[in-house]
Formats: sequence, C-alpha cells, structure tokens
Amino acid sequence: MKFPKIITIACEKGGVGKTTVATNLAVYLRAMREDMPVTILSFDNHLTVDRMFSMEKQPHEKTVKDIFDGHKIEELVSLGQYGVSFIPSSRKLKQKSDNEELFAEQMAQSRLDGVIIIDTGPTIDYFTRSAIIASDILLIPVKDIPSLNNVENILEISEQDGHLSRKIKLLPSIVDGMVKFKKQTISMDSFLRSLSIERGYELMKNSIPRSPKVESLTTNITFQVYPVITHAKKTVVHREFSALAREVFSLLGDISEPKSLSILRKALLTPLIVHSKTYNQLVNSTIPYCPLCGKENNTVNFNIRPDMLFFESGGRTRGFIDKRCFVEDILYEFTGMGERMAGFRQKIMKSMNEDIFFTISGDKTSDASSGHIRLNLLREDGTEIEERLIDNSVSLQLIETLSKIREENSTGSASCLIKLGDNPFPDVILTEKNYNTLQSIKKIVNKT
Ligand SMILES: Nc1ncnc2c1ncn2[C@@H]1O[C@H](COP(=O)(O)OP(=O)(O)O)[C@@H](O)[C@H]1O
Ligand SMILES: [Mg+2]
Repeated sequence: MKFPKIITIACEKGGVGKTTVATNLAVYLRAMREDMPVTILSFDNHLTVDRMFSMEKQPHEKTVKDIFDGHKIEELVSLGQYGVSFIPSSRKLKQKSDNEELFAEQMAQSRLDGVIIIDTGPTIDYFTRSAIIASDILLIPVKDIPSLNNVENILEISEQDGHLSRKIKLLPSIVDGMVKFKKQTISMDSFLRSLSIERGYELMKNSIPRSPKVESLTTNITFQVYPVITHAKKTVVHREFSALAREVFSLLGDISEPKSLSILRKALLTPLIVHSKTYNQLVNSTIPYCPLCGKENNTVNFNIRPDMLFFESGGRTRGFIDKRCFVEDILYEFTGMGERMAGFRQKIMKSMNEDIFFTISGDKTSDASSGHIRLNLLREDGTEIEERLIDNSVSLQLIETLSKIREENSTGSASCLIKLGDNPFPDVILTEKNYNTLQSIKKIVNKT
C-alpha cells in the first residue's frame, strides 16, 4: 500500500538555503532513484518551485492553497521537469483551521507514492508547523549563529508528539569563511558543527558550501531557476548535494511507518476503538501472526499493517493474513484451473481494493473425490458478485493451505471468510458496527 514519506525543510530564518536545498534535493533524489517518485511543494510566499519545475508558462490553477481548502492532494500534483512532480505554489495561503495535524492526515489519505519534499517559509506559522508535524525527516539548514539559535523553536514544535520516530538533522548551508572559536581559527562549517554537537543536535554528514555559481542559478534574466545537477556539475556543491541525497535516501529506508499514517490512525481509529467494547474483546482473541506465512502482527499496540486482510473461520479463529499470502497461496492456485477460474481470479484481484468479502466453504478433507470447495465473492450487504465451485481433487496444495485458516463445524464442513479492501487500518473491522456487518454476512453465507 502506498503512503508518502515526507521530508520537511525548515528554519526560522530567511536566506539560509531552505529553498535551494529543497528544490535540489528533489532533483538529486529523483536522479539517484528513477523508480522513486519525488514530489515537491512549498508553503513559502514565492514561486521558486514553479520556476524550477513547471513546464508551462501560464500560472497554474490548482496550487498548495487548495490543500487547505480541503482539496484532495493527489489531484493538485503536476508532472514537472527533471522527472520531479510538484504542487504549484501560491502567494495567498489561508489558514482555515487550528488543527495542525490536518495536513498530515490529508497527506496519508492522498496515498501519494514515494517522497514528498516540503519547503517552508522563514516564519513558524500554521503552514510551517503543519509541515513539521507531518514530516518523517526534518532538515534544518543553518548558516550562522542566529539561525542556530532559532533551532530550538523548531524542535519545540516537533516535540509536541514526542518526536515519534522523526529524524531531525541540522544541515550547515551556504557556509564559507573562517571564524574564531575557542581561541582557534576554524571554518564556519566546523564552527557550526561544534556548536551543534555541544547543544545536542544531530547533523547531516555533509554541508552545503557557499558557491557563487549556485547563487547565479536563481538570478538570471529568464524566469527559470536551474538545478545544480544540470548547471553547476563541476562545483563542490554538486558533490555535496549527491552525498546529501545518498544520506537522505538511507534515512528514508529506516522509516517503517510514515508519520502521516500514524497521525491518520490516531484521528480515525482511536475514537472508534476507545468506545468499542467489541474491538477490545476481539483483539484479545486474535491470532498474533499470519497463519499462512507466520509473519507477526504488531501486537503491542495492535497496529495491524495496511497490507493485511482480516479473516475469521468457523466463528472461533480470527486474525489477519498477509495480502501477499492470500494472493500467492490461495488465489494463485486458481490459475491452474482453466480459463473459468482465471477469470474469477482476475475479478477478485480487481476487487482487492473494494470493501468486499471472500468466503471459502465446503468439505474439509481432500480425499472425498465427490467433495467440493465453494468460493463466493460478496458485497457488504451480502449480495453475491460471483460464485465458483471447485473440485476437491483439483488442488491438493490449495486444500492444504486452506486447512490452516478453515475451521470445521459440527456437520463436518469447513468455512472461512476473508475481508478484502484497501483500508490502511484493517483492524477497524473489529469495531462494533463493522463486526456486526461481518456477522450478518456470515449468516447469509451459512444459510446458502
Ligand atoms: N550554497 C549556496 N551558495 C551560494 N548561494 C546560495 C547557496 N544556497 C543558496 N544560495 C542563495 O542564497 C539566497 C537564499 O537562499 P534560499 O534557498 O532562497 O534560502 P531560504 O529559502 O532559506 O530563504 C538565494 O539567493 C540563493 O541563491
Ligand atoms: Mg525560501
């Protein structure tokens, strides 16, 4: 399932290189990994992002402003130069709410794939705060003492949620010249690094040095702003940006669950769970691993991964199976069963993202050559989309797999119900209302 990882570039000071870092990082990350989508947007009051990435001369109709008017984020994204997608900038951002987690929730709901880079303005306003709260990686460019002194204000915002797995790194930027520090003459870069470490901050391994060439990339007679990678390839800055992108990429690899998804989970699921007796009871009777591959669920907080499907068999055994196990160990078995079953498989694959139920019932054992397994695809109201009967003798492998999730009842037949669907929080099925729906579907299936 796709969820974006967010990198926010913030510093409570103008002219420290935020926009330069944000825009160039986007280009370098994209150049480094062609299979990784990169999207950039800016909450600052200028059009630099558009000037670097837009392929059109006309101003764009849809901009970042629309995010805060409640538009779907995925509909605001345009394809830009250098393979980087972008959301056009706006000079008229308007705060519509006090909820600073709203943007993170919208981001998670967008299901945008890959990396999102957010450039922020020089003040800590609602938009900067929203971008910090949504971020998985927070990069803070610093170029001198005043910018370093302001870092604490940014950290304060990040601390609101206890930093929850956010990576925060300072990045010395536009650094050059020498300064006196502890009676020694050292470079501005070393000076900022020493002070940062003294104050307990983490730093990126590389710094972005000052380069007249970089400065010239924004100040030419055309409207265009050029990236370092295409127009300053022979400079030290190019090497430093390459190293920066590599380090950022490795940080991205360490993120298990994006912050925006955790925030959305808290907003949507917590109110349901807290008041649901059903949920709390059912969670305790849930198998803590996928019965097909054995992979564990997150049982500590009961945060089920988005790529898991709920199953319940015989009314007693319930849990979550890996979507991949379902596809490969159950659905895949159908392909050997002729055109008819392949068509059925395709139908299920298409329905994978809808709220649909898949039931398996019939004889438990494989030796009865007359026996069969019945497969049904049902809508939430119990109406049938498709039914298939397959002969017990057709696939021993399938029977064996099914025996791990089907449970026999008193009449000797076995059944199992699997909830398909594209829900980032599959355990929402265990809340009162959803679980009742499931029970009524089971009744319908058992009657037929
Ligand atoms: N590494 C650099 N070397 C020289 N000039 C730079 C460098 N990075 C940025 N600049 C210039 O400094 C100014 C401020 O940079 P910018 O990225 O807009 O900072 P911010 O977004 O923090 O205000 C711009 O004119 C930009 O061209
Ligand atoms: Mg800027």
